[in-house]
This record gives sequence, structure tokens and C-alpha cells, in this order.
Amino acid sequence: MALSLFSKNKKAILNRCRDDYPTKMRLKYAPYYHAIESQSGTNIKLDGRDMIMLSSNDYLGLSFHPKVIEAGQAALKKWGTSPTGARPSNGSRSYHVELEQKLAAFLGREACHVHAAGYLSCMSSIASFAQKGDVILADKNIHSCLWDGIRLSMATVERFSHNNPDDLRSAAASCDSGSPKLLVVEGVYSMEGHICRLPEITRIAEEYDCFTILDDAHGFGVLGHQGRGTVDHFGLNEKVDIICGSLSKSLASTGGFIAASREVIEYLRTNSKQTIFSAALSPSQAAIAMAALEIMQTEPEHHERLWRNTKKYRAMLKHLGLDLWDSETPAVPIVLGSKERVYPFWKALLEKGVFTVMSIAPAVPAGKDLVRTAVSAMHTDEQLEKIAEAMAYAVKKVG
Ligand SMILES: Cc1ncc(COP(=O)(O)O)c(C=O)c1O
Repeated sequence: MALSLFSKNKKAILNRCRDDYPTKMRLKYAPYYHAIESQSGTNIKLDGRDMIMLSSNDYLGLSFHPKVIEAGQAALKKWGTSPTGARPSNGSRSYHVELEQKLAAFLGREACHVHAAGYLSCMSSIASFAQKGDVILADKNIHSCLWDGIRLSMATVERFSHNNPDDLRSAAASCDSGSPKLLVVEGVYSMEGHICRLPEITRIAEEYDCFTILDDAHGFGVLGHQGRGTVDHFGLNEKVDIICGSLSKSLASTGGFIAASREVIEYLRTNSKQTIFSAALSPSQAAIAMAALEIMQTEPEHHERLWRNTKKYRAMLKHLGLDLWDSETPAVPIVLGSKERVYPFWKALLEKGVFTVMSIAPAVPAGKDLVRTAVSAMHTDEQLEKIAEAMAYAVKKVG
């Protein structure tokens, strides 16, 4: 009897997998999980065809920089492939400490902690500090890892309209009961390309005494002096308590970081499950991030080229009459408004040799279904011309 009940329960889960509508649609239209066969910079090969990558987050184009590759190779030889353990036990190495000190200094913070994924860093920058009874004020459009951190914390959440200080003020006023309050925003919103309205937002955070967490995965390397990020861009370092982010975008590696005061970082090291029970960042990925960080400070041409390309690319899209959701950064969405328009647009670009990513509701707000593109310092003028031709073709196709 017990056995048949058990097998019925298991079947329910298996049926859930078999009947899942989004999975069926994904397999039918195959828009995701493309396995690229080879890559050299922004040139990729997919299904035997040469294509231009236009959706990577390698904003500064450092993933093929000779010094970065060399640093990764040297670290592999020196340290082997992996620390094979978590930081508090057997996984801490001097290269972690070195990277953390360099990132902290770059960001003007006392301390930093690195993880094996940006997702872990950003999730734990909320989950480790908020607890039941606290109130979290969160921009509606924050990344999934931040929502996961909020859920794990068991705190009460109050959402406010995307990048809207007035709505944040109303939300803060409505829950001003004396409970500790945390504010969660992104520096640059990854889908929209919007820069956080940090001056107004931090003024409200100060008024309501909020502990402020900023995910700068897409602002790091892109904004501020030498790419120090959104907080530096506005000169508001004192107003933000935690800056978290990813090593997998401008730093051309994988992994993530949390930068804050020493007390905050030491509390994280004692209390964060994502920090205590997950294997540490690998030697090659740490060395790659360190080399990229050095290049950000010594070779300004990558940052300059990124912004030159961004301006050129945005002007070209605007000339075609496309809706860019007022993106202000190299993350440029092309809003098409429905999945029926997004799919043929994305397909037309693919047909013309340009690789982008579709994002449809509920991953984006209803009516904002889009093709996400991101321009890199590595795109050549010739590639931008090919992209312009492909865009014109896609516009004609979708009408
Ligand atoms: C805003 C934001 N935060 C965090 C992450 C997670 O970073 P990672 O991909 O390095 O895990 C991402 C990744 O796309 C992101 O866009």
C-alpha cells in the first residue's frame, strides 16, 4: 500500500516534467540553449555558419585579451584546476584574498568576498542580512537572484515601480513601522539598460534609514572612472552599504563579489550559507578576473571603444525606428511588444548571421517582449555595418 502511494506521488512529478507547456514550447521553437561550436572574440560558429555575437555581456571585450588568457593558463599550472572545497574549510587560497583586496580597493570599500557565481553573491547579499520581521523595498525589475535572496530571507517585501523614486517613497512610507528596512536596486538594469536613479533613490533611503544593496553586475566596467560602476558614476559611495556583482561580464571570468565594510563582510562569512557551503572560486577564474581588473586600470581604450560602439549602435537602431526602452548603456533591448513579433525578428537576425537572445513575458513585463542585445568594445566597424544590414532586414520582415 505504502509503495503504491509513493509511486503515485513520484508519477505526479514526472508528469509535471512531461506536460510542462513552457518546456514543450522551448523544445519546439528551440530559441535557447544553442551550443556554439567555436568562438574567436565576437565571431562565433553556430550550426556550421559564421555569425556575430550580439548578446554577450563581455562589455569590455577582454575574454580574448592575451594577458587575460595567459593569467588563466598560468594559474591553472600553478594551482591546479580547483580548490575543491568551501572557503571556511579547505577552499581558501591566497589568490582569493588577493582578488578580494584588489576589488575592495577598486570599489573604495574596506572588504570584499568572492563566490563561484554572481548569482550566489547577489542572492547572499540579501539572504545573509535580511531576516523575518524586516522589510525589503525592491525595484520590481530586479534580477532573479535578488528575488531568490529576498525569498530565502523570509522578510516582508514591498515592491516599487521600476526606477521610480516617488513610488519608492510611497512604499517606504506605507511600511514605516520601525522594522529594519533594506533597499534593493540594480546599478544598470540588465534587460532594460536603464541606469538606476541613484541620487533620488539614496536620498529616500537615507530619509527612511534603509540598508542599501546595489547589484552592479552590468554597471561594473561600464560606468564610472575606469569602470568603477554606478556608485562611482554618481559619486555616491558613502550612500550604498553593499555593492554586489558578477565576474562574468566586464571581468571576462565567472564568479561574483560582494564589497562592503569589514564588519558586513565578516558577518557574511559567519552567517551566509551560500558562502559557507559552496566550493570556492577556481584559480583560473580568479586569475582571469584579476588580470581583467588590472587592464581596466591600465588600458582605457577598451572602455572608450565600448562607449563609442554603444553610441554608434544605438544611433543605428534609432534610425531604423526601433524602440530601445530608453536604454542608456551597452545593454540594448529591442522592444517588439509581443512574442508573435519577437520570434520572427530574432529569427531574421539569426538568418542574417547575428546572434541575439529573445526575452518574453513573464521574464519581462507584459507588452515589453524583446530581443536583448549587448554591444561590446570588441565589435569592429565592419561587424556593426553587418549588424545594421541584419537589423534593417528584420525590421522589414516584422513590419
Ligand atoms: C543583474 C544581475 N545580477 C546577477 C547576475 C548573476 O551573475 P552570474 O551570471 O555571474 O551568476 C546576473 C546575470 O546575468 C545579472 O544580470
